[in-house]
Amino acid sequence: MKYSKILGTGSYLPKKVLHNSDLEKLVDTSDEWIRERTGIQQRHIAADDETTLDLAEQAARNAIDASGLTADDIDLIVIATTTPDCVFPSVATMLQARLGITNASPAFDIQAVCAGFAYALGVADNFIRGGSASVVLVIGAETFSRILNWEDRNTCVLFGDGAGAVLLGVSEQPGIHSTHLHADGRYKELLHVPSGVSSGYDAMQQQQAFVQMRGNEVFRMAVSKMREVVEEALAANNMDKSEVDWLVPHQANIRIIQATARKLNMSMDRVVLTVQNHGNTSAASIPLALDTAVRDGRIQRGERLLLEGFGGGFTWGAALITF
Ligand code: UT7
Repeated sequence: MKYSKILGTGSYLPKKVLHNSDLEKLVDTSDEWIRERTGIQQRHIAADDETTLDLAEQAARNAIDASGLTADDIDLIVIATTTPDCVFPSVATMLQARLGITNASPAFDIQAVCAGFAYALGVADNFIRGGSASVVLVIGAETFSRILNWEDRNTCVLFGDGAGAVLLGVSEQPGIHSTHLHADGRYKELLHVPSGVSSGYDAMQQQQAFVQMRGNEVFRMAVSKMREVVEEALAANNMDKSEVDWLVPHQANIRIIQATARKLNMSMDRVVLTVQNHGNTSAASIPLALDTAVRDGRIQRGERLLLEGFGGGFTWGAALITF
């Protein structure tokens, strides 16, 4: 029986930092409101000439370095992103070229918004279990700032840019015990960018190219689905919540994270919290949090991690991992 395991982690945040006080000058908001309702204190914004590919490359190089392998060992790249550099080719194929990989191994993008990293991890895990790949680069990378309406206080205070990566390899022991992916397409209107390539560029010039969200309704659904999916992951592995060492959640809102932690009877010092530093970076937020806690020494080898994310679609998912 083959399993996948995490060989190395990496992440990258753009240099430019936008504080809550900066947003007070753009929209009718306050540092106090943003901190109290979301936990966010600042977010990172990509430079004008910096793209999702650039962020993904930095995170990838950090993860490869941490693993002790080289780019040539990689035989699959999966990138979760909602904000690719171009319609095609995928960010994953462009990254393959940047990393100098010429072994013709597959590379593709996945779009599941804030649940994107959970989806990408699930796909990569299945490639390894099925024997189709042995070293997989899995990335969540976003320049979400590009699809924000900077006059809409309901959304522009929430999101930021960044990238996180893991390198997966083959193991005889799990590694990734299981992944759990879900979608319910009936809720499109609650969180979406209304326009796109196929529905016309005219509409894209009229605010339709930006994120629109009915935050309160999304919030309630996120809390409920996160509670369900962490229970599902534990039940699938016959594990008790007390066996989880770290919760590594999607970083959208500290109150959603606290609700999931309560469900797991976990104190907040066993929860990796990075939302204050970079806001909601969509598909990048779980691997950013993971890499932060690995590098600062909180997460140790052999510890059990529960990853979970929720996003537009709706899409959601979780992964139970022994690091
Ligand atoms: O990652 C993908 C999934 N996304 C999420 O999980 C996000 C889920 N939603 C949330 O995190 C929260 O719903 C928000 C942070 C977006 C909003 O917090 P809330 O406690 O649900 O506030 P609300 O939407 O119920 O709005 C409360 C009030 C409203 O004013 P009125 O109608 O009560 O007068 C809003 O207009 O807060 C107002 N408001 C703001 N005020 C100051 C909304 N945005 C802002 C703002 N600054 N930026």
